[in-house]
Amino acid sequence: MAPSGERILEVRDLVKHFPLTQGIVLKRQIGAIKAVDGVSFDLHRGETLGVVGESGCGKSTLAKLLMALERPTSGGVTINGQDMTKARGAELKRMRRNIQMVMQDPYTSLNPRMTVGDIIGEPFEIHTDVAPKGDRRRKVQELLEVVGLNPEHINRYPHQFSGGQRQRIGIARGLALQPEIIICDEPVSALDVSIQAQVMNLLERLQEEFNLAYIFIAHDLSVVRHISDRVAVMYLGKIVELGKDEAIYERSAHPYTQALLSAVPVPDPEGRESRERIILQGDPPSPADPPSGCRFRTRCWKAQDICAEQEPLLEVRAGGHLSACHFAEAHDVIHA
Ligand SMILES: Nc1ncnc2c1ncn2[C@@H]1O[C@H](COP(=O)(O)OP(=O)(O)O)[C@@H](O)[C@H]1O
Ligand SMILES: [Mg+2]
Repeated sequence: MAPSGERILEVRDLVKHFPLTQGIVLKRQIGAIKAVDGVSFDLHRGETLGVVGESGCGKSTLAKLLMALERPTSGGVTINGQDMTKARGAELKRMRRNIQMVMQDPYTSLNPRMTVGDIIGEPFEIHTDVAPKGDRRRKVQELLEVVGLNPEHINRYPHQFSGGQRQRIGIARGLALQPEIIICDEPVSALDVSIQAQVMNLLERLQEEFNLAYIFIAHDLSVVRHISDRVAVMYLGKIVELGKDEAIYERSAHPYTQALLSAVPVPDPEGRESRERIILQGDPPSPADPPSGCRFRTRCWKAQDICAEQEPLLEVRAGGHLSACHFAEAHDVIHA
């Protein structure tokens, strides 16, 4: 796979604040949950961008904003030069065809009362111009084949498939409208480790075959390592580090990324190096009340006064990629 460099998705200063209310009958807004709080990045044709961060940092909200399943509080999402956040009606429907999602949990995301054929073919019911009615069954069978399932099983129900097979059904559905972008929201987190590699291999093969761009969400850096061209690390609604795969894994400059990396088992072929382990203290703060300045400072061993006073911008720092840390320095993850 060779990303062409052509930008197909531009995300600019994207914000999603959910109202925080009090009272059961008369809901008063007492604040906001800052689920996504100023996220910007580009995605290129055929590229995989890994998005990594702890649970609750806003990954799924970001995915829903990109799919236009949620309206942003502010900011823009542009697909092939067209602003999706401003699109309505038929125009939005057409744009949505181009960006599809594979969900986290194949056990709950497939309707148990629908046959696999109906699940995979459902997008054709919504986008009726993609496949004429008489063609749909054949198309669904072809999709089953593409994801490595038996096309003769078209009339079976989700419970008749294993977890890995169900995720293949979800992937087939995502492919039905021939999108250019697929958002994979923790697609293997709910699967057995032995099955994860098969699904990852399938996603990689499909990417080559159809020149797909992926946004691949995970809570663990080890999952996205193999598949990503670039990686974005999120913390409390913001991207704190963004760079080429090897930059993030070998020259990470942000303490949060370094902490995540130190939790990842890395094979050490020479067997002579031991790694510094960084144990993060406590849980992330609430996105309803993030710390002033740098949001990571309350758990950061490098924090100084400036970190509480001034928000570090995501800019090119030591290491040559984007980091949002006042004290960013390239850091060899492996120590002698
Ligand atoms: N519809 C919603 N209403 C209110 N809060 C929400 C909603 N969806 C998500 N959140 C909150 O936004 C934050 C980010 O959630 P989410 O995007 O699901 O994170 P992740 O996918 O990284 O685990 C969490 O604090 C979550 O509770
Ligand atoms: Mg999530």
